[in-house]
Amino acid sequence: MLRFHILAINFAFSTSLFAAPLPEPSQQLVDFSRDIAPILQQHCLKCHQDGKSKGGLRLDARAELLKGGNSGVVVQLGQSGKSRLIQVIAGVNPDEVMPPEGEKLTSQQISLMRAWIDQGMKWGELKTIKPTQAGKHWAFEPVKAPKIPDGEASHPIDRFIQVRLEKEKLLTNPEATPETLIRRLYLDLIGLPPTSAEVDQFKSDASATNYEQLVDCLLADPHFGERWGRHWLDAARYADSDGYEKDLPRPYAWRYRDWVINAINRDLPYDQFVIEQLAGDLLPNANQEQKIATGFHRNTLTNKEGGVDQEEFRVAAVMDRVATTGKVFLGATIACAQCHDHKYDPFSQREYYQLFAFFNRDKETELDLAPPPLPRLSIPPKKTVVDAYSKAPVLTLGPDRKSHILIKGDFLRPGVEVQPGMPVSLGGNAAAATTRLDLARWIASNENPLTRRVFVNQVWSKLFGRGLVFTLDDFGTQGEKPSHPELLDFLATEFAQDGWSLKRLIRGIVTSSTYKQSSQIRPDHLERDPRNILLARQSRIRLESEILRDQALAVSGQLFESFGGPPIKPPQPPGISELTYASHLKWVETTGIDRNRRGVYIWLQRTSPYPSLMTFDSPDSNVCTVRRDRSNTPLQALTLLNDVVFQECAQTWGLKLAQRSKDVSATLAEAFRSLVGRELSSSEQERLMQLFVRFKTLYAAKPDQAKTLLGKSMNKVSDPTTSAAWIATARTLLNLDEFLNRE
Ligand code: HEC
Ligand code: HEC
Repeated sequence: MLRFHILAINFAFSTSLFAAPLPEPSQQLVDFSRDIAPILQQHCLKCHQDGKSKGGLRLDARAELLKGGNSGVVVQLGQSGKSRLIQVIAGVNPDEVMPPEGEKLTSQQISLMRAWIDQGMKWGELKTIKPTQAGKHWAFEPVKAPKIPDGEASHPIDRFIQVRLEKEKLLTNPEATPETLIRRLYLDLIGLPPTSAEVDQFKSDASATNYEQLVDCLLADPHFGERWGRHWLDAARYADSDGYEKDLPRPYAWRYRDWVINAINRDLPYDQFVIEQLAGDLLPNANQEQKIATGFHRNTLTNKEGGVDQEEFRVAAVMDRVATTGKVFLGATIACAQCHDHKYDPFSQREYYQLFAFFNRDKETELDLAPPPLPRLSIPPKKTVVDAYSKAPVLTLGPDRKSHILIKGDFLRPGVEVQPGMPVSLGGNAAAATTRLDLARWIASNENPLTRRVFVNQVWSKLFGRGLVFTLDDFGTQGEKPSHPELLDFLATEFAQDGWSLKRLIRGIVTSSTYKQSSQIRPDHLERDPRNILLARQSRIRLESEILRDQALAVSGQLFESFGGPPIKPPQPPGISELTYASHLKWVETTGIDRNRRGVYIWLQRTSPYPSLMTFDSPDSNVCTVRRDRSNTPLQALTLLNDVVFQECAQTWGLKLAQRSKDVSATLAEAFRSLVGRELSSSEQERLMQLFVRFKTLYAAKPDQAKTLLGKSMNKVSDPTTSAAWIATARTLLNLDEFLNRE
């Protein structure tokens, strides 16, 4: 803080020391063509003309110059000394010097410009320079249905992949084993592993027909919405608290979470899904659900500290809505145009504030709801009863409010007024749009070049661990180009023809041979395509945080299946909630069996998010996330071994295994199968057996350690040594690499 002050003081000095004095106006009669045009042409027009108007200012026509730029008028006829244009070319404020680079204007040139303005700014012939046209950028071009390549494969996706692989002389992998395939499908579609019985059933007939029936079953399973809803909640930066320092609770935020899960389960077409979240409240005769959908943009941070400037944080929330809308739906870094024109993509600062204007009138309100049926909880509450069932955070239209370009993104520096409008480079028609609903409909239209491409790419990335465009959130010129552009457009085209159905899109992808391949890495894969861009194999993906917990609960028989309702607070290590502001957050642990509900229902506190989820790269929800990181750290292994929840899983499962038959080797084989679906090999069987025996010897020698491991169950077991050995073995099994990854 101190450092900052010193810098600020230095800066103030430099301003006064080096500020240039304003040269006097020239006394001669100015001739535009002779005196002014060369200055404009040589020093200004490359940034200030039709098609490229930096700072919103055009200097290629008198009327345009009179209109001014983003901060308003820049010339006052007859008063050159007061004109902003003169001040910037003279460098009165060293922060704002024009031209910003290259040669400065001489004092003689400035004198001429002053005289020109004082004498009425007469105009004449001006040679404009054609700005160098940037090449067309693929993602801003309309989606075109490509021709499906010729080839032997029956599935169109496979044809697109094969054509490229043939060029690269790489061969695809064979289909994964039925055990691997069914486990992959379960984890990808519903985020839970199959039971041994389900694996057996599939193994008995792993034909394509049976596989497709299985796909349909999983798409119809309500767990599908929880799994795919979680992806969307990342993008929606969903959390159960306000953020910022105080980070107060949001007891009704889950209403939006449930809306997402339900919408995905009923396969609400994606265009409608977009429209309802951005503008459900503005739909004619909007129903309660459509209003709750606007909770999407209520997930912005809220600062309720005393003494803060409410307007500053209101503007910050609106800016977040613009940034999130750009990133999630359009894969566009529109947020980069908040303070200056976008440096790489065709979005001007004015266009940013035209988008801003769509959200600037909105009011945050709480919708009163009829109480829903109580959720199926083991123990009713005490991922406040009356309160918790009566409201939902929504967005509604507030009173009219003017929108301005904010100079350098500063809410205290309003420039010229702007009206709502879409970016021209994306084919937006400025005249037609005035409301958030217009914006939503434009985003969700077939004409929008980005929306469908961006969404199918997000879906693809969840099923292969990597998008066809790697930068899921940047389809601009700085993003990566698509590895298979025709396939991307094929998927986008089919998607629209299929009624924007997420379920049908997923069905199409997971029935391809490309998806069904084994993830085995061959030496030529590693050498030629280590990042698996060409898809000559499936990807081996470390499971996401929620799934790691969910499947441990499922395998140990503890998962509590109930859908929706207020979030839970499962056990977490001590000291975590003390990290919150003044330790004010009390993590009142959920004590009923509902604490073993799925991870998607865990309370998300922004300043102290649930630690085991964070360790495995869950986002903290301060900003939207469309691509989770996949890190690999020692803390992860320590968490799986020692975290309370994982310990409880090992304990419960171990005790169950101890009660099965006395045949240790058969029990091990069965346990392993319920974990990853496949049979143990004989060498694996042998090693597990040795491990079990070692544990037994250890706990026979150290009964105290057995007691610690058994915890409360100590008094219930007849043979503590064997039971402890089973718990330790179960813990090892739950930490197997094959269990923590989706092959
Ligand atoms: C290399 C590009 C470039 C050149 C050349 C250039 N400008 Fe600028 N100009 C800018 C940018 C960028 C801004 C916006 C700065 C901002 O918003 O912080 C700007 C802003 C301005 C503004 C303020 C507009 C407003 O409303 O805030 C004026 C006036 C201006 N320029 C005049 C000139 C003049 C006169 C020349 C020629 C002598 C010139 N500029 C040359 C890039 C350029
Ligand atoms: C909160 C305000 C703000 C935001 C948001 C912002 N910038 Fe900037 N940026 C500035 C300022 C101020 C400058 C320096 C003055 C200038 O060049 O206009 C700058 C300069 C730059 C420059 C150097 C320009 C040059 O000519 O050398 C680049 C490149 C740039 N920004 C890119 C980005 C990108 C990409 C994003 C989005 C990820 C972004 N900016 C978002 C404020 C911002």
